[in-house]
Amino acid sequence: MTDRIVSGEADMLDLSLEQSLRPQFLQQYIGQEKVKQNLSIFIEAAKMREEALDHVLLYGPPGLGKTTLAAVIANEMGVQIRTTSGPAIERPGDLAAILTALEPGDVLFIDEIHRLPRSIEEVLYPAMEDFCLDIVIGKGPSARSVRLDLPPFTLVGATTRAGSISAPLRDRFGVLSRLEYYEAGQLTEIVKRTAEIFETQIDAKGAEEIARRSRGTPRIANRLLKRVRDYAQVRGNGEITQHLTDEALELLQVDRLGLDHIDHKLLMGIIERFKGGPVGLDTIAASIGEESDTIEDVYEPYLLQIGFLQRTPRGRIVSDAVYKHFNLKVPME
Ligand SMILES: Nc1ncnc2c1ncn2[C@@H]1O[C@H](COP(=O)(O)OP(=O)(O)O)[C@@H](O)[C@H]1O
Ligand SMILES: [Mg+2]
Repeated sequence: MTDRIVSGEADMLDLSLEQSLRPQFLQQYIGQEKVKQNLSIFIEAAKMREEALDHVLLYGPPGLGKTTLAAVIANEMGVQIRTTSGPAIERPGDLAAILTALEPGDVLFIDEIHRLPRSIEEVLYPAMEDFCLDIVIGKGPSARSVRLDLPPFTLVGATTRAGSISAPLRDRFGVLSRLEYYEAGQLTEIVKRTAEIFETQIDAKGAEEIARRSRGTPRIANRLLKRVRDYAQVRGNGEITQHLTDEALELLQVDRLGLDHIDHKLLMGIIERFKGGPVGLDTIAASIGEESDTIEDVYEPYLLQIGFLQRTPRGRIVSDAVYKHFNLKVPME
């Protein structure tokens, strides 16, 4: 799973590389126009009032730019960012240590905020609402609760599963921003920008081809670009063209729409064993030997996005476009 080249999740290579590719300001952050417009207004207003920005929840599939946007928000506000993640905060004391170290106006970024333990969430509520912290000192009968004042701060939470966030936590965010899959044109811009940072030559058709196969996801676009760059260096003169991109990505088994062998297995499984559906998620999972959750969280979202799969009350159906994509005859109703 982790070595799947079209996965939106970051692997070790991505992590070492991404720092240098991240846009620093809204101006350089390509796409997500609605989210950017809203944020820029809230940021400007907060700066005019000299207040901390409202708490922001960013949600959407992996690789679309949530972590990047958190840093952009801090840069635009001219404050520092402290980064942690839901599973990293195990005890109330962990959170207290982070919160009390903040400077006024700072951004606290909690990645994977849906994995925050419930006991921590409860400590977070007064921190978010009133910038204070109730902590219990001592044990047993002598235990007492003290209230600590915190500097005003902005919590930026990121999650791939907005549905898994408890309602009380969600309600405490003033800004809820949903990141969408990118259009091909925007991804082309991102590919060109990254190529420039890599100091790699790429022609327009080459950039478009990489964009088309990147599943609407900047992280995948950057990863494919990196692999195609290697190929172009060895098999060509270093300049990335459409032809070299086609060859390189065929070798990597990423097809024209960015689908890989796992997508093929899933779609062909439904066609061959269930006549294209409708078929229940659990039945699909059992038939291809995968977990239902993995299918739902990882494999399905992009296939739903491009309309290759449809969810109905009776189960999943593959669309006619899938038959055409595989050069199969579309079955009669
Ligand atoms: N809007 C964007 N413009 C340019 N590059 C982007 C954009 N969004 C994401 N990226 C690139 O994609 C990579 C993954 O983004 P990241 O913020 O880590 O995604 P997420 O946190 O949502 O998984 C980063 O290296 C970043 O360079
Ligand atoms: Mg991230």
